[in-house]
Amino acid sequence: MHTQLVYSRFNRFWHWMQSVLIIFLALTGFEIHGSISFFGFEQAVTFHNTAAYIFLILIALAIFWHFTTGEWRQYLPTRQHLRAQIEYYITGIFRNAPHPTRKTALSKLNPLQRLVYLALKIMVIPIMVVSGLLYMFYRYPQSNGIESLNIEGLRVIGILHTAGAFFLISFIIAHLYLITTGHSPTSNLKAMITGYEVLESEKE
Ligand code: HEM
Repeated sequence: MHTQLVYSRFNRFWHWMQSVLIIFLALTGFEIHGSISFFGFEQAVTFHNTAAYIFLILIALAIFWHFTTGEWRQYLPTRQHLRAQIEYYITGIFRNAPHPTRKTALSKLNPLQRLVYLALKIMVIPIMVVSGLLYMFYRYPQSNGIESLNIEGLRVIGILHTAGAFFLISFIIAHLYLITTGHSPTSNLKAMITGYEVLESEKE
């Protein structure tokens, strides 16, 4: 076993900022939706809009980071060991079976993580951003509709944005459970805080 830097400083900053923002956007978003009451509707709208702008800046920085560091390669999907990984989570984990894949700094995501995180990056987050921006600006520039996009109402946009919010909340719940399934219940969490993790060496 050896200790290695797995998550760089920006990687950790991006991860924790993203978590806080998504939870805050969910809290304020569901207040706007009418499901909960916490800040009051008007405050919730202001907070949701502000957090959304910060989230957009974070996304721009993260895109820059992924491409300048080559980290985007971590998310290339693979079917190799995918089945084994799913079986591990369904049954293996309860029999103390070994992890089917080995984590390294160059390949820190298992095949299931690659697939789910890629879907978040190219589908769910873009849907949230585009539907959110349309929510904000659907009245521009014609004052009552973007005619070229033929947006007559917010119904579809609202459904997409809310469905995405449910998906993200489900993801967070699953994510919280899955981070406890590393080599020890807290090893993944500690790694995302300190950046360092104890990993198996090549020969082992
Ligand atoms: C850049 C990203 C985002 C933008 C630009 C954005 C923007 C907006 C806007 C403008 C509204 C309508 C506010 C109003 O009625 O005045 C809204 C509603 C809402 N947002 Fe977001 N949002 C974003 C991300 C998120 C995220 C990540 C979540 C949840 C995890 C979320 C959850 C919600 C929910 C549940 C509603 C209420 C939808 C409804 O009842 O129709 N939003 N968002």
